[in-house]
Amino acid sequence: MSENSECPRYRVGITFNLKQKKDDENEDEQAEYDSIGTIEAISEAIGKTGCETIFLEADTSLPQKLQNLNPDIVFNIAEGKGGRGREAQVPSILNLYSIPFTGSDETTLCVALDKGLTKRIVKSCRIKTPVFFVWKNKDTEIPANLRFPVIVKPNAEGSSKGILGNTIAGSRKELINLLHEKLDRYNQPLLIEEYIQGREFTVGILGNGSEKHIFRPMEIIISPEGNPDKSKVYSFHVKTNYQKYVKYRCPADLDPDTEEKMSRYSAKIYELLECRDFARIDYILSEDNEIYFIEINPLPGLAPGYSDYPMLAEYNGVGYDELVKAILNSGLRRYGMSAV
Ligand SMILES: Nc1ncnc2c1ncn2[C@@H]1O[C@H](COP(=O)(O)OP(=O)(O)O)[C@@H](O)[C@H]1O
Ligand SMILES: [Mg+2]
Repeated sequence: MSENSECPRYRVGITFNLKQKKDDENEDEQAEYDSIGTIEAISEAIGKTGCETIFLEADTSLPQKLQNLNPDIVFNIAEGKGGRGREAQVPSILNLYSIPFTGSDETTLCVALDKGLTKRIVKSCRIKTPVFFVWKNKDTEIPANLRFPVIVKPNAEGSSKGILGNTIAGSRKELINLLHEKLDRYNQPLLIEEYIQGREFTVGILGNGSEKHIFRPMEIIISPEGNPDKSKVYSFHVKTNYQKYVKYRCPADLDPDTEEKMSRYSAKIYELLECRDFARIDYILSEDNEIYFIEINPLPGLAPGYSDYPMLAEYNGVGYDELVKAILNSGLRRYGMSAV
């Protein structure tokens, strides 16, 4: 860090995995990766704080780049490559080199990427989550007592990857077809989950400990009639065409008790999984007013004008640049470094 106050205060690395060219056959294959526009927006926001930024694509040359460029802190949004632990790759490398970084550590990112595992943990603190079963491979027997309809999704994906085309099965026969189709395509265990009819919400969290802020919930309203999937699922197609098919309402129209409960659950789950700096949690509120945890994103997308986390922050009065700065400051404070 420079001693001269006119120079950038910190050298902030930004670690990321870039979206490669779109493959029409597998349109959601790159869903979790970032576009250069997102990295530039983050860099611009950090630049406004007086810090210098260094772009660090998280490929196999990352260790070498970190050694050569030696950032003071890393703003990590890298999703990693390959396997259930992929989001842990970059945090592990940063820890290996004792480089501070924003966001959750490798353990939290690994656990949260495994939807079934996370649901088991969340259930243990008596927060409801839809009944589920992880179907590992073609030899796995499907339980007899499933209640239909169910939704099927890859167990370890995000950004609506795998939530493409038909994802809901109304009968055992439909389920078997869906499982085989999805296994061929995604080649990983599949989560079968009871489909909960109701309203969908997402809650953003920013900061740590007693200083953390729970944003007011955002409702995601999808009209089944108007979209290609003919369902209320926030699917890859619906999300990528959200201007056409989705209405967002934030703060959501919720009775105060339900909103308080959703916020309290969010704080609890965030602490339970030892999240750091920021995260986003998805819920369905059933028709009988029960809150069901769906998943947590400790590395939520930060694409300006697209991702839900910056969108809900904006509705809550925190603009993009301010949000990026707050995440950075959260990270800096955890390491005992001065905020920018
Ligand atoms: N059990 C469920 N009941 C009803 N809708 C669900 C359920 N699980 C997922 N969905 C729908 O599917 C969407 C994507 O599921 P989610 O687990 O959040 O995957 P992703 O990691 O891709 O965001 C949700 O936003 C919601 O619209
Ligand atoms: Mg989700």
